[in-house]
Amino acid sequence: MCVKSEEFKRCDQSGFCTRQRAYADLVEKTNTQNASPYKVIPNSIDFNKKEGLITAKVLKTANNTLDNATPLEVYFKLQLILLKSGSVRMKFEEAEDNIKTRFDVSTYALENNNPEPSKKIDTKNDQNSSTFTFNDENDKTTLILTYNPFKVEIVKDGQVVIGFNQNGYFNYEEHQQQNENDNISEEEKQRQNEINELIENTQKDMWSETFRSSTDTKPYGPESIGFDITFPGFKNVYGIPQHTSPLSLTTTRNNGDNGYNEPYRLYNLDVFEYILDSPMAIYGSIPFMLAHKNDQSAGFLFINASEMWIDVEKSNTDTLTHWMAESGKFDIIFFVGKTPKDVITTYMDIAGKPPLPQYFATAYHQCRWNYNDEADVLSVDQKFDEYNLPYDVIWLDIEHTDGKRYFTWDLTKFPDPVALQKAIADKGRKMVTIIDPHIKVDNNYYVYKEAKDQDLFVHNNQDKPFDGWCWPGSSSWVDFLKPEASKWLISQYDFEKYKGSTEILYTWIDMNEPSVFSGPETTMPKDNLHYGKVEHRDVHNIYGELYHKATYEGHLARRNNEDRPFILSRAFFIGSQRYGAIWTGDNDADWNHLKASIPMTLSIGLSGLSFCGADIGGFFNNPDKELYIRWYQTAVFQPFVRGHSHIDAKRREPWLYDDETINLVRDALYERYNLLPYWYTLFKEASVSGIPMTRPMFFEFPENEKLFEVDNQFMVGSDLLVKPVLEQGQTEISVYLPPSEKWYDYKTHKVVQTNEEGYLTIPTSLSTIPVYQRGGSIIPQRLRHRRSSKSMKHDPYTLLIALDEKNEAKGQFYVDDGESFGYKNGLFIYRTFIFANNILNCSKYRSPDNINESHNEDELLMISERIERVIIAGIDSKSIKSIQLVTNGVVKSLQFNVESDDIVIIKDPAIEMKEVDWKIEILY
Ligand code: GLC
Repeated sequence: MCVKSEEFKRCDQSGFCTRQRAYADLVEKTNTQNASPYKVIPNSIDFNKKEGLITAKVLKTANNTLDNATPLEVYFKLQLILLKSGSVRMKFEEAEDNIKTRFDVSTYALENNNPEPSKKIDTKNDQNSSTFTFNDENDKTTLILTYNPFKVEIVKDGQVVIGFNQNGYFNYEEHQQQNENDNISEEEKQRQNEINELIENTQKDMWSETFRSSTDTKPYGPESIGFDITFPGFKNVYGIPQHTSPLSLTTTRNNGDNGYNEPYRLYNLDVFEYILDSPMAIYGSIPFMLAHKNDQSAGFLFINASEMWIDVEKSNTDTLTHWMAESGKFDIIFFVGKTPKDVITTYMDIAGKPPLPQYFATAYHQCRWNYNDEADVLSVDQKFDEYNLPYDVIWLDIEHTDGKRYFTWDLTKFPDPVALQKAIADKGRKMVTIIDPHIKVDNNYYVYKEAKDQDLFVHNNQDKPFDGWCWPGSSSWVDFLKPEASKWLISQYDFEKYKGSTEILYTWIDMNEPSVFSGPETTMPKDNLHYGKVEHRDVHNIYGELYHKATYEGHLARRNNEDRPFILSRAFFIGSQRYGAIWTGDNDADWNHLKASIPMTLSIGLSGLSFCGADIGGFFNNPDKELYIRWYQTAVFQPFVRGHSHIDAKRREPWLYDDETINLVRDALYERYNLLPYWYTLFKEASVSGIPMTRPMFFEFPENEKLFEVDNQFMVGSDLLVKPVLEQGQTEISVYLPPSEKWYDYKTHKVVQTNEEGYLTIPTSLSTIPVYQRGGSIIPQRLRHRRSSKSMKHDPYTLLIALDEKNEAKGQFYVDDGESFGYKNGLFIYRTFIFANNILNCSKYRSPDNINESHNEDELLMISERIERVIIAGIDSKSIKSIQLVTNGVVKSLQFNVESDDIVIIKDPAIEMKEVDWKIEILY
């Protein structure tokens, strides 16, 4: 595996990145951190208390050694919006711009573009600053706006937690007429050579730029935005996916031999054979960063869809980040919170939360490029049953179509797709087909013809439909900025229109970066034109999301909003979580790729998109038995679980390996299916709060500094700690179990003893999956093994209770019909279980979305099943005299087994999940 890195830009091959980095270097070299040319004009400050809105004029003056390009002086408009959540939004733009309207991506990217302002704000002004102290619900946040030089700082508990322009890197390239100022004055040329070169670099490639064989015409000239965001007191920052780097971001500048020498890049790209531990851009981009230390978290969002580079510099105490975007608006949000969860929930309130997926989508998916024909599909399906391997969805890749004409079938291989889907549906399973965004140029292909006739394609820089190369050969790309184009795409999913599609058919969208084989860096030229003459450069990173959205809406429409869509996408941006799942693209059957799947999915998850996974086994090449088993054992604890492989890789369904492998893969799959009730509850939680299902360790233990850089173990929800075996031939593993908690072996329910520091070392065989349950938790499970999640629908539940030091525990359980939107009208069951004083209590859980559970008993009965077993670990079991269930005053005595000194299993209390306010009492 080796990426052709020369095909992708480095910062010094990108005009704006070079200019912005040179500007920052110049600030450092000339020691002019405090000489930023931007100044707030004090008497222009206006404060609208009702809207939490501060506006001001900012002046940029040219009489600064850093600034050769600016004519005399330019005015800008500044807006600061103080939000009720304690967050601050800041916008900055030219006071007047006659050249180009900067593209505002916020209406597409954010679900809530007008979050509630803070109502209670105190202000204080002095000579060089204004201070605003405002309330979030529990806490006070302070914003300091410094006038000269222009600087913004957010203060919590007397300490600055995030700063803007503290380092003076702010450099906003206002639109200008060509040739006005791109000559460097003689005086500047006199300066030292090194600085001269930097100054020249601040003028590089402003009006056109050539990379390899393509030239970007840049008709609007330089328009990039660069600025520093500092996190004083924070040593760790996270997020800005998608990269293959460690979870805690690596330094990218001035770091001697450590770290990277390139900034992290955000530019959605189809990178063939991407490399690991690299800041290179790949398929998705979320310009969201989280900073965390033991008593404080902070977040930062740059709402901009153009190409972006981000430098990260760390000192022993602080982190400095330098953000550089090619074009678009300056629109940023600062978030503050005590913990990472606080920050994520406020961010997700704005960006939008993921919808609750269908139950099947949370189970195992089986894919390959390609399942060749009907017989192949049916035989794979049959074999899963034969080997008792549970699975829910079978996927068809591009070869199922008639010559890569999406929405069609290759009828020689798939003569009767409806009958095929019926056979799959009869087993309780679903099917997914791939629909890529490139449309084959072919006047005999109805999809192409319709889109062309209605002028729905993206245009080239000559304003003619753009033609590029992708899987089908010559292709065009739908322009989702055009409202008619999205509407048209939505209508393609009508069952009438998409021939051969049925209600169990869902969609996989790929290559939506967009991938253009013939384009610069395998993507679309930046000077292509979208609807409204918007340049592709301004919307590049959201293109894939707009396609995801239209596809999602197509699925909603085809069933009149009655069925929850399932759409998997490869490209993503801020807000993509609202439309479905993503996966980490074309990985490799290599141990390091297995390892990388953990930080990659965690980083994407903490940036909002938690329904995420990596291709099991690795897409390229062939996993040997051991890697294959370990990959399943890891992936079943990640949110999206799909086996997939390249067309040139060997077939690798489990039965093609030996018996031991089949058995261990089956065991791993059962781990997933057993825990589906827990997973589904976590998906529910994510849909109302935005908190990811799988979490970095520090999310659950924000005060434990030992965990801030840990990315080889993670939490599923709050209660399961997973430390997959990730080394070939590994015979023992050391797990860190935070000493603040009591921990149980998830399989044996035995309390585990760590050393004083919290480490536990255990031997590992091929069957070992190190998973630990946190003391104090209650986990719902279903332990009967069947062939799909649907066939488990009416199975009873087991509650797995692990007590903490105080002999207490609690947990939640959520269920609904798993398919429809009935839950929005109350058709769900949401329970809280609390164990204390030897009593297990069940009550209704008050979900933060404030929807009341249905009172229609018949309806509830359809989704309710009984509890068939309660396992209590960590209890004094020897002296239990009796156990009884109390419902509405009726007492029923229950049978139980004392498994060991501290484990008891209560047999079949047979209480329905729909019942509330019952208790199980343990009597001594
Ligand atoms: C891309 C996808 C991969 C898919 C292939 C063919 O490489 O990432 O998953 O199998 O295209 O469609």
